[in-house]
Amino acid sequence: MTEEIDRVNELTNFISTKTGVKGLVDAEITEVPRIFHVPSSILSNNRPSDITGLNLTVPIIDLGDRNTSSRNDIVSKIKEAAEKWGFFQVINHGVPLTVLEEIKESVRRFHEEDPVVKNQYIPTDNNKRFVYNNNFDLYHSSPMNWRDSFTCYIAPDPPNPEEIPLACRSAVIEYTKHVMELGAVLFQLLSEALGLDSEILKRMDCLKGLFMICHYYPPCPQPDLTLGISKHTDNSFLTLLLQDQIGGLQVLHEDYWVDVPPVPGALVVNIGDFMQLITNDKFLSVEHRVRANKDGPRISVACFFSSSLSPNSTVYGPIKELLSDENPAKYKDITIPEYTAGYLANIFDEKSYLSNYKI
Ligand code: OGA
Ligand code: NI
Repeated sequence: MTEEIDRVNELTNFISTKTGVKGLVDAEITEVPRIFHVPSSILSNNRPSDITGLNLTVPIIDLGDRNTSSRNDIVSKIKEAAEKWGFFQVINHGVPLTVLEEIKESVRRFHEEDPVVKNQYIPTDNNKRFVYNNNFDLYHSSPMNWRDSFTCYIAPDPPNPEEIPLACRSAVIEYTKHVMELGAVLFQLLSEALGLDSEILKRMDCLKGLFMICHYYPPCPQPDLTLGISKHTDNSFLTLLLQDQIGGLQVLHEDYWVDVPPVPGALVVNIGDFMQLITNDKFLSVEHRVRANKDGPRISVACFFSSSLSPNSTVYGPIKELLSDENPAKYKDITIPEYTAGYLANIFDEKSYLSNYKI
C-alpha cells in the first residue's frame, strides 16, 4: 500500500513539473525515478541457445524496381516478410532524403522548445489535432516510458496548418504527403502479396486515415532500468516508421528481441493489428519495443494508417476472398473506433488486444 502511495506521489510530482522526460534530463538527474523502472526479467534478452538455421535479420526490401519486371520479386519478398516477421525495411521508396532529414530535425526542434511553448499543446479537450502529451502513459499501472511524444491527426480531415506548431508545420505537411503516396504503393504491393486485386486494400479504405506520433527519447542515465516504449503491437493496418541513427527498436521474432538496425534513408514498415485481422492471420502484427539509450536524444516518427478514434462505422473482418472451408474466419468483425478504444485502455497489457476478437 505505501508503495502504491509512493508511486502515486512520484507520478504526481512528475506530472506537476510539466516538463516531460526531457525535463528530468535537463535537470541532470543521475538516477531513473522508480515510476520508470521495468523488471529486469523483462529487459533481459536471452538469445535462443540454438540459433543455427534462424535468420535474425529484419528483411530489407529495395522498392526501386517496382514498376519493372522485378515487381513479382518484390511482391514475394514483401509476402515473406509480412508472414514471417510482420516487419521489414524499405529502401528506394521514393521519399526524398531531404524530406526525411527535415521531419526528424523538426521533431527535435519542437521537443527542444521551451516547455511553455510545448505545453500550449497539452490537450484541454478531445478535439485537438495536434497534441503534446508528456504523460501519455500515466493512466496505466505499467511503468512509464522514457520518452516524450506528440501526436497529430493528418487524414481523412487534414489539420489547418495553424493547428501545427511552427517548429514542425511545413515538415509535417510535406512528410505526410509523401507518406500517403508511399502508403498507396505499399498497400498495392501487400494486396498483390495476398494474391488479390492490387486495389483491394485501398478499396477497403486502409489508406484513408493517417495518424502520426513523433517521439523524442532523451538520453537515459540508466538505460538498463527502463524502456523507451514498452512492448506493444500497433493499432493500425500498417505503420511506417522513420528512425534516426541511434537505434534501440526491437522486434520479437522466434521469442527473441531482434534489433531493427538504423539504415540510412530507409523506412521501417510494420503490419498492424487491423491487417492481421483482415488477412485472417496471414500477415502478422508483431510485438516490438524501444530500448532506452545513453547516447540520445533519439528521434522517431511513426505514421499509422488507420482512422483510429475518428467516427467510422465501417465494419472490418477477415477478407472473404481469403477464406475457405479449410481456412475459416478466425476473427469477429470490428469497427476501428471500437477496437481503438479497447486497445488504448489495455495498451501495455501482457497479451495482445487483438486476441480478444478471436473466434
Ligand atoms: C510506435 C513505435 C517505435 C520507435 O510508436 O508505435 O513502435 O522506434 N515506435 O519509436
Ligand atoms: Ni509501435
